[in-house]
Amino acid sequence: MVKFTLNDRDYEVEDGKTILEVALENGVKIPTLCYHKDLTSYGACRLCMVEIIDGARPGLQASCTYKVSDGLVVKTDTERVKKTRDIVFELLLARCPDSEKLTKLAEEYGITKSRIEWKDKGKCILCGLCVRACAEVSQRNAINFAFRGIERQVNTPFKRISQICIGCGACAYVCPTGAIEIEEAD
Ligand code: FES
Repeated sequence: MVKFTLNDRDYEVEDGKTILEVALENGVKIPTLCYHKDLTSYGACRLCMVEIIDGARPGLQASCTYKVSDGLVVKTDTERVKKTRDIVFELLLARCPDSEKLTKLAEEYGITKSRIEWKDKGKCILCGLCVRACAEVSQRNAINFAFRGIERQVNTPFKRISQICIGCGACAYVCPTGAIEIEEAD
């Protein structure tokens, strides 16, 4: 068992849990987009940032990947967390203004518009949840990240129609922004 403190309250939990898991189990609100309880956490969207006040890696950390440990002191609502979260929301909104889920979540945290200009708008936030669902649930590895920098995207190898995709739809199901649409085959 591990003893640690979250928002001034002491917890004793099983070893190996992340801060986010403990928070969710205990009604502590932390926004997430790239987390799914059945998939490996990757820490991509950065919305779940919390502040480690005392611990091995003090400062802002993604709660979905940071494991609790003895003596850890964590806060989810410091000014630093709020400012960072607001910027992350604005960045995501600039990139994906048409994502209903993202817009709703941002509104819950008081962010209704973005001051950031983004050239190539879309719905994909490159969180990789679809890639992990394809690999870990469907066990197909039909899609993955491709290219670098602003060209980065999720796609099939060489952007070709995948021969190993079974059309299960797991990628679309877990996508937090509705970026993936399943088309019926002819
Ligand atoms: Fe933790 Fe996205 S939910 S980084």
